[in-house]
Amino acid sequence: MNATDLKKEFSEIFDTKPERVFFSPGRINLIGEHTDYNGGHVFPCAITIGTYGVYAPRTDSTVRMYSANIPDSGVVTFDVNNLEYDKAAGWTNYPKGMMNELVKTGAKFDHGFDLYVHGNMPDGAGLSSSASIELLTGAILNTAFNLGVSQLDLVKIGQKCENNYVGVNSGIMDQFAVGMGKQEQAILLDTNTLDYSYAPVKLGNHVIVIMNTNKRRELADSKYNERRSECEEALRRLQTKLDINSLGDLTNDEFDEAAYLINDETLIKRARHAVSENQRTIRAAKALADDDLKTFGDLVTASHVSLHFDYEVTGKELDTLAEAAWKQPGVLGARMTGAGFGGCGIAIVEKDQVEAFKENVGKIYRDKIGYDADFYIAEVADGPKEL
Ligand code: GLA
Repeated sequence: MNATDLKKEFSEIFDTKPERVFFSPGRINLIGEHTDYNGGHVFPCAITIGTYGVYAPRTDSTVRMYSANIPDSGVVTFDVNNLEYDKAAGWTNYPKGMMNELVKTGAKFDHGFDLYVHGNMPDGAGLSSSASIELLTGAILNTAFNLGVSQLDLVKIGQKCENNYVGVNSGIMDQFAVGMGKQEQAILLDTNTLDYSYAPVKLGNHVIVIMNTNKRRELADSKYNERRSECEEALRRLQTKLDINSLGDLTNDEFDEAAYLINDETLIKRARHAVSENQRTIRAAKALADDDLKTFGDLVTASHVSLHFDYEVTGKELDTLAEAAWKQPGVLGARMTGAGFGGCGIAIVEKDQVEAFKENVGKIYRDKIGYDADFYIAEVADGPKEL
């Protein structure tokens, strides 16, 4: 998609003159899953597929929004002075929620605008289309209204929008990955302190293949919240004897020695994942930096195994893709990415083997699940920007 075409699309919907075009990426997570609300590390990166937005100011106080991806919603209209959540407003609650959170930090919107949105991410695939649109809105408003908000604050505002306004209890990984993305770099983020560093994604003659189950993440929100509370309960039980703030404070050995305090099979499994996944993530980032691709790939695979057996968030579609991927020649590792229960997985595959990989894994998936998976090569991209 290019700016000229997008402006043309804008003009077919609105009668104002399109002024500025922005892009905000989606994200994949290399490793560090379900650790961001457990005070652990994550290792995600922004990708070149995401959401485009075309903006034009208005002289009145009306805001009009249209998404090419959800044409049935048509043009949604509201007033800059009424930013209340409205279930019927559908997807526009994300940009509206950003406006609402920005107002709380002192931003003033003294006129309305028209916004045309067009994403090229597969629908419902768990590549963070919501964080993408939150940070897209953040970038547009920050520029158009001269708000002077730092990128890190936009990331935090994005998470608040998700938690307080939309009502999803997610961690900060998605907004951070999207908002702070850098071309060819993954982000090692300590969600406990928000300390972060960039790490080049040097995979030699390998690429990252995104594997889309094409299964929508249906139960995702309720199961997600259930996992969160299970981890909170496990932490609470550990804290009866241990002086810790989060599961991310523990090494595997420390956890092992204290697990008796939890005294419940399910809660022990959940907490064991949170602890071990954090340790794996730190090790994986080091292995990648040391060009030890074998260890990196093994840890990526180990992450899936832990998400399958201990955290139980994979499901047969993601398991089928990961297990089929592990058996293919030239694969360093494969796992689910994001919240799980459907959505996408990733595999690290030798370039020359990618075509055979798609064919073989695609066939195994179709035979077992009954419909097709899709495959795309992930390119690691910058955060939101004006085109
Ligand atoms: C979703 C949430 C993130 C994170 C992942 C799991 O994508 O939005 O905050 O918890 O699941 O790692």
